[in-house]
Amino acid sequence: MMNRIIEHIDYFKTVLPKAIFIDEENLLKYGHDETEDLSFLPQIVLKPESTEQVSVIMKYCNENSIPVTPSGARTGLSGGALPINGGVALSTERMDKIIDIDENNLQATVEPGVINQVFQEEVKSKGLFYPPDPSSWGSSFLGGNVSTNAGGPKAVKYGVTKDYILNLEVVLPNGEIIWTGANVLKNSTGYNLTQLFVGSEGTLGIVTKIVVRLISLPRVNKLMLVPFNDAQKACEAVAEIFKAGITPSALEFMERDAIDWTLKYVDIKVEVTPETEAHLLIEVDGNNDEILFSDCEKIMEVVEQFGAGEILFADSEAQKEDLWKLRRRVAEAVKANSIYKEEDTVVPRFEMPKLLKGVKEIGERFGFKSVCYGHVGDGNLHVNIIKGDMDDKVWNETLPLGIREVFKLCKSLGGTISGEHGIGLVQKDYLDIVFSRTEIELQKQIKKVFDPNGIMNPGKIWN
Ligand code: LAC
Ligand code: ZN
Repeated sequence: MMNRIIEHIDYFKTVLPKAIFIDEENLLKYGHDETEDLSFLPQIVLKPESTEQVSVIMKYCNENSIPVTPSGARTGLSGGALPINGGVALSTERMDKIIDIDENNLQATVEPGVINQVFQEEVKSKGLFYPPDPSSWGSSFLGGNVSTNAGGPKAVKYGVTKDYILNLEVVLPNGEIIWTGANVLKNSTGYNLTQLFVGSEGTLGIVTKIVVRLISLPRVNKLMLVPFNDAQKACEAVAEIFKAGITPSALEFMERDAIDWTLKYVDIKVEVTPETEAHLLIEVDGNNDEILFSDCEKIMEVVEQFGAGEILFADSEAQKEDLWKLRRRVAEAVKANSIYKEEDTVVPRFEMPKLLKGVKEIGERFGFKSVCYGHVGDGNLHVNIIKGDMDDKVWNETLPLGIREVFKLCKSLGGTISGEHGIGLVQKDYLDIVFSRTEIELQKQIKKVFDPNGIMNPGKIWN
């Protein structure tokens, strides 16, 4: 394979004279994302800066059967950006322009390499709001967010990436350029290719332009951190908050270890009593302070019925930032602590307490420790299985059986195996738990329609 790529370099040089990398440092860099400790080197890294360049590269790779792995900011947790078959890592990092913010229609058109937070801040300066805000927002690209259908804390009120994507420009594996829809809020015209591409993890084509809808920015918010001595009770309170008529703009859960590890990792001060087992971080937002106060009172009434301890209300913007930093940095803190596997479990919201309890029981049976946190308002719990001093054989051979049990539990509770991180490389062996043979076959045929030669992010989602 290596020889073959070298044969092709002269061609790539004609397309991208200054954006071809084959040095070890770059191959190592583009050989990993944030998934466990996995690394698979590409043979060449290409960094196009236009749709036309992407198109020419794809056409050539397709004709020469060269695997292409799209590469964004590589913050993914399912191995979607790992070039497992070598070949080309196609980075979108130079396609980083916000092309247009249309304040008349509340829409924006961006390139895939725009960093989520950069975009959020740009639209915020115009009084507008793009809600999907994964914890990786400081570095993850909008292209990657589209490819995994990223969620984040705001999803509970505002929805996930798919709810904001109106239209996509895509380069197909054969180099043809298409638009998937139209720049309109309603569209009943034919099959919904836009939504097919959202969450397709770079297996069907390369997204080169993204049209999103925006909303107006809520002017005020309130944030509270609520401790519980019983993690189970914290989860039980979640559905009741909604049943009391409140839709929080964030409703996050963190187990004790997640908080302790993160407090060691980031420089912020939060008092946690020795008995605390878990916290809920709850935000409400809107345009009217009084209404938000009354929402907070109702939330307090609910959580008190579930044994909440003393609630911390953020009383300044700086304190809000600290609390959000605490929540957003959990994944990094867990990763810094030990090798781990992350399962992105999701169930209907009311089933959350059963999920947490079941995960702990399965952990006891299979001998693993887990640290859980996540978007409980969405029924989306990140189960982090910690390797610690578990031996490699148990980690590689017994653990997958335990994970299978966790996913079977999700399915039995009406849920599924990934809420927002995707299937990528590391979850694909579990798809049989949630899909019938017919359902899998239909999806594989869709893949074949778009990518008959199997060059587009091969080995992801499907074998
Ligand atoms: C989070 C990422 C890991 O919720 O999804 O922090
Ligand atoms: Zn998450």
